[in-house]
Amino acid sequence: MTIRTVCLLGGSGFLGRHVAHRLSAAGIEVRIPTRNRELAKDTLITLPTSEVIAGDIHDTNFLRRALTGVDAVVNLVGVLHDGRGGFQRNHVDLPARVVSLCREAGVERLVHISALGAAPDAPSAYLRSKAQGEAAIRAAGPHGIHWTVFRPSVVFGNGDSFLSMFATFVRLFPVLPLGCANARFQPVFVEDVARVVAASLDCAASHGQTYDLCGPRVYTLRELVEYVGATVGKRPCVVPLSPGLANLQAFVLEHLPGRLMTRDNVLSMQVDNVSAAGFPAWFDGAPTPLESVAPGYLADQTSRTRLDRYRGLARR
Ligand SMILES: NC(=O)c1ccc[n+]([C@@H]2O[C@H](COP(=O)([O-])OP(=O)(O)OC[C@H]3O[C@@H](n4cnc5c(N)ncnc54)[C@H](OP(=O)(O)O)[C@@H]3O)[C@@H](O)[C@H]2O)c1
Repeated sequence: MTIRTVCLLGGSGFLGRHVAHRLSAAGIEVRIPTRNRELAKDTLITLPTSEVIAGDIHDTNFLRRALTGVDAVVNLVGVLHDGRGGFQRNHVDLPARVVSLCREAGVERLVHISALGAAPDAPSAYLRSKAQGEAAIRAAGPHGIHWTVFRPSVVFGNGDSFLSMFATFVRLFPVLPLGCANARFQPVFVEDVARVVAASLDCAASHGQTYDLCGPRVYTLRELVEYVGATVGKRPCVVPLSPGLANLQAFVLEHLPGRLMTRDNVLSMQVDNVSAAGFPAWFDGAPTPLESVAPGYLADQTSRTRLDRYRGLARR
């Protein structure tokens, strides 16, 4: 079946916007539910084939309306912090409800974005909840729904939280106390993830498959921070923290506005965020190196874009 209409859950987020642009450029009609239509206004409402609808995707009737009549659903909804049961609601209950409503509405194609390292026995609640979400998606198979799960490592690109946050820090602070400095990551470019998600929709080879999505190179967290520093013209003095101090730092940060880091985030960094599996064989192209993209947007961050980032974190 050729996919002509897609409901993009989480389409207003960092990765979702890139997927929306890619699908719209391919002439696919994209329906994007969001809690805040105003925030989606600048980049999504102007897309030629997009329909942005305001509502709460945890409201079953709203979600049913959002899914009805589309050929495929892409679920990108995710939260990094567990305030008010957010992991259970967004990572576990929502995928299960999406599957059930896809069955009801006769939607046969479902693409789901999980996270690298998701596992039932992972150290962090974030990764365990993502594993439960994957299981809910796989349970759709016997009901005639063709599912695909993608598990990206940390995603970089214009508008990211991860590298941009460190760019802000190294500009502000000459000394950076860093927890989990030796944690390893394999950052993947947001456009590569968007391209592979878009390409998977019509790709029968991806049905019933789970793919890790990683960039070409592995870095420690310390290397990434030092790289970001060099890119924006700073040489921060990175002070690695012991596990106990990293936990204490996260405890303080999780109680500050913006919740830049939580103790659960620290736990998730206990397992390396890397994978030897390459991009899917059916994907046309190779993953983009960080060094060919990051300088362009990190060095270019104006005070306005930094302010926008803080607004995003504060959801204003
Ligand atoms: N970014 C990364 O480095 C990374 C790495 C690995 C995996 N992932 C996964 O990739 C997916 C997309 O990540 P992202 O970085 O693009 O996330 P993001 O920018 O934080 O966007 C999250 C999206 O989820 C929606 N959402 C969150 N909570 C919601 C709620 N309670 N009710 C309704 N909608 C809600 C938001 O919609 P509204 O606010 O508009 O309603 C937003 O569109 C997530 O599942 C994430 O776990 C991301």
